[in-house]
Amino acid sequence: MAHYEAKGEPGEVIEVPVARGDGVGRVLLYGTGDCTAPALRKAGAAVARKAKGGTSLSVVVPPQADAAPLVQGALLASYTFTIGKNRSKAVKEIVFIGADDEAVRRGEVLARATALARDLVNTPSDIKSPEWLADQAKIVAVEHGLAVRVWEGPELDEFGGVRAVGQGSAHPPRFVQLEYTPAGDLDGVRHVVLAGKGITFDTGGLSLKPSEGMKTMKTDMAGAAVVIAVMSALAACQARVRVTGLIACAENAISGSAQRPSDVITQYGGRTVEVLNTDAEGRLVLADALAYADARLDPDVMIDIATLTGAAKVALGVSYAALYSTDESLAGELLAAGESSGDRFWRMPLIDDYRPDLDSDIADLSNVDRKLSGSAGSVMAALFLREFAGGRPWAHLDIAGPARSATEDGELTKGGTGFGVRMLLRYLAG
Ligand code: BES
Ligand code: MN
Ligand code: ZN
Repeated sequence: MAHYEAKGEPGEVIEVPVARGDGVGRVLLYGTGDCTAPALRKAGAAVARKAKGGTSLSVVVPPQADAAPLVQGALLASYTFTIGKNRSKAVKEIVFIGADDEAVRRGEVLARATALARDLVNTPSDIKSPEWLADQAKIVAVEHGLAVRVWEGPELDEFGGVRAVGQGSAHPPRFVQLEYTPAGDLDGVRHVVLAGKGITFDTGGLSLKPSEGMKTMKTDMAGAAVVIAVMSALAACQARVRVTGLIACAENAISGSAQRPSDVITQYGGRTVEVLNTDAEGRLVLADALAYADARLDPDVMIDIATLTGAAKVALGVSYAALYSTDESLAGELLAAGESSGDRFWRMPLIDDYRPDLDSDIADLSNVDRKLSGSAGSVMAALFLREFAGGRPWAHLDIAGPARSATEDGELTKGGTGFGVRMLLRYLAG
């Protein structure tokens, strides 16, 4: 250790050659720092990355450490997504030695759910139509014992936002509801609604995006991916809360039938919206989801999650997501769940002074700041959504920054990150 000047910091890995029969084996000495959850996630990720190309890795878990975050970090750093010939270089097998079985299982459940979200996000949009995304939700429902309903075609009549955003696409929209009910007595059990933005590709519509900004837009359903992934893991996490997952799926495409800037649409529940910018489409599909939840599901809490605005990414970068909430205790619980799970959120203000900028001359609301100033874009989107939350305790998570990673770094792999899955599972299931 002294020879290698090892400090024992998390993420530090020293490779030592050892005699193994006639050959040379490899022993990795890995730092774990103070053995807190973030340190162990980082340590697990670093060891797994170092073992790339190998067939098997044995990880000795420090006696005082919780194996769950170590497992999580190792598995998530080994995540790969390829289509066609599998060129994955990740180590094929990891064995955790001296670990509590239950802790390994917990780590694996969270990593698996996060990987599911990554798979959905990384799937290219020539495959990932709204129909495909709804089908993935159905598959998850069958596998994990959830009730599921899918709306399509004329059944979407009342969902004016979903219809308007999807009307320019050859691949028609879908609205999906997944339901988890915990086993046993439901007395006093809360009901949480999760609503995810499921834009399977965002061209911007007729308010077209520049090509540079468009090429990552297959990831614009990351919110929906998080909702599907969270729903998939609630039973395994033994969550003691009723959860309804809603995903609003549409492709924001460009064609002769696409909605026009200045069209007026009718959201679920009857409110009219003047669409001044067709690239502000996420809030239109989410408004339907929130209004539907408020009118039909009687939730105690509503949380929406979405890659909603480039402005959130400008404000907070890729390490923190924006959190808005009308409820102090809900905000506090979500922030705390974020800190401990590793998906970190920063609370942003719902600035009432700006609300009049969403007024429209001819409709109940406009979908963007009518002055088109472009300032406080993430706040304006949150203020728009608040209009549809019916005064219930509500939180809005804008994950536009951290939903996607441009680099391989620790637990993060290039592409979809699954950001939000672990925070929401921590919040819902402890
Ligand atoms: N999907 C985008 C937001 C986005 C941008 C996510 C970059 C991830 C990275 C969203 O639909 C959008 O286009 N928002 C507009 C809103 C504007 C027109 C008010 C934006 O952020 O520019
Ligand atoms: Mn857009
Ligand atoms: Zn979008």
